[in-house]
Amino acid sequence: MPASSFSILIVDDEPNIRSGLEKGLAKEAEVVVTACDADEALAKFRETAFTLVITDIRLPSAMNGLELVERMLQSRPQTTVIVITAHGSVETAVEAMRLGAFDFITKPLDLDLIRQQVRKAREHYRLRLENRVLRDQLANAGEVSGIIGNCAAMQDVLQQIRQVAGTDATVMIQGESGTGKELVARALHDLSDRNAKPFVAVNLGALPESLLESELFGHEKGSFTGASRQKPGCFERAKGGSLFLDEITEIPAKCQVDLLRVLETGQYSRIGGEEVLNSDVRLISATNKIAQAEIELGSFREDLFYRLNIVPIEIPPLRQRRDDIPLLVEHFLTHFCQRHGRPTKVIAADAMERLVVARWPGNVRQLRNVIERLVVTVGDDCIHAEDIPKELGPHPDVAAAVRTLAESVEETEKASIMSALIACDYHREKSAQLLGVSVRTLHYKMSRYGLH
Ligand SMILES: Nc1ncnc2c1ncn2[C@@H]1O[C@H](COP(=O)(O)OP(=O)(O)OP(=O)(O)O)[C@@H](O)[C@H]1O
Ligand SMILES: [Mg+2]
Repeated sequence: MPASSFSILIVDDEPNIRSGLEKGLAKEAEVVVTACDADEALAKFRETAFTLVITDIRLPSAMNGLELVERMLQSRPQTTVIVITAHGSVETAVEAMRLGAFDFITKPLDLDLIRQQVRKAREHYRLRLENRVLRDQLANAGEVSGIIGNCAAMQDVLQQIRQVAGTDATVMIQGESGTGKELVARALHDLSDRNAKPFVAVNLGALPESLLESELFGHEKGSFTGASRQKPGCFERAKGGSLFLDEITEIPAKCQVDLLRVLETGQYSRIGGEEVLNSDVRLISATNKIAQAEIELGSFREDLFYRLNIVPIEIPPLRQRRDDIPLLVEHFLTHFCQRHGRPTKVIAADAMERLVVARWPGNVRQLRNVIERLVVTVGDDCIHAEDIPKELGPHPDVAAAVRTLAESVEETEKASIMSALIACDYHREKSAQLLGVSVRTLHYKMSRYGLH
């Protein structure tokens, strides 16, 4: 289990000490890794969130052990650090403790004593994990990782996050663009036992097919032209943590097969490599499409879908939870006034009403951008209805607007698609380009609207 897994990084320039400690501590931790200087140590530290670092203070590199300790604790304060000092240089040890080191040991090294200290560090780590679980439970009573939403649908989403965060179950998040899918994915990671390990996000829609495999699984040096060195893939970089696969339905067929195999076997290899690596990630995927529709179209494998969709979380579009808009507006207003160093603005009731009834095709992201723009451009301390951008739509009749919104979006979409197709002489690639969507999206929409 990742929560209790304990990993040690040993940093010393003397090969004998390195190998002595590595062997001597092999039974004390799941992982023991060594480095011979500060640079190597930092590189390894960046890759893996070691629980314990044991480092010599005197290192041959430009950076000494103290500086190394400082840099490591700055980037990951939860790391436990034990420093090794030469006999009689207690001052440096004190300095290290002041920087946040947990303990120090003096040379010549006594392996039994070191084992005891490591066990103490491990117990300390276990207690801290327990505390964090408690703190998290407290935090959960209120909001979850910055996700704002009071409406029943969002409360459901938050409840689901709390329920599944602690498990390793594979989650698929579905929601329109800008509804907060990545935010939810991060919340799942932050509230999980894996939160001390990396959260790696990869957008499968943004990568050309040729690079995708290597991005996911990594490659060996020389495995293809341009592979000048070994490169770890997302699965490797997210080891022990969470892997977020965004726009999962955009993944090409060949890659779907490979991903399915990893999910089934829990194993993979770097491209061009023999070594079999174990996958240790919590997989979270997201799509802004109706995945079932993609399956019907034959572009997304059903077996892969079922593997990924163990726990589905659906985030409703903003237009279906207008009650949350005032809350979000206040939240972003405070946030951006602070960030831009402005006194906190207020928003007039008529302005708020305009925001509440707007269509928000870009969902929360669009709302966030609008508020940031208002904070920057409105000189007055109060935001009035006239300040609200016209393109958000006037909709004076709230009830009517809300009822016809979904329909009008569809109508507009259908009309745009028709005119693009006509303009491009029914050439689908060109039409898709003109519309600013992928060919696949165009196909999906055409089938949905019965345009053939
Ligand atoms: N419920 C929410 N509370 C607070 N902020 C939110 C909420 N939902 C979304 N946001 C903010 O809106 C922005 C967009 O969210 P996010 O990137 O998670 O959306 P997405 O669904 O992944 O979008 P896309 O499909 O375009 O990738 C982010 O800045 C996020 O912090
Ligand atoms: Mg996203």
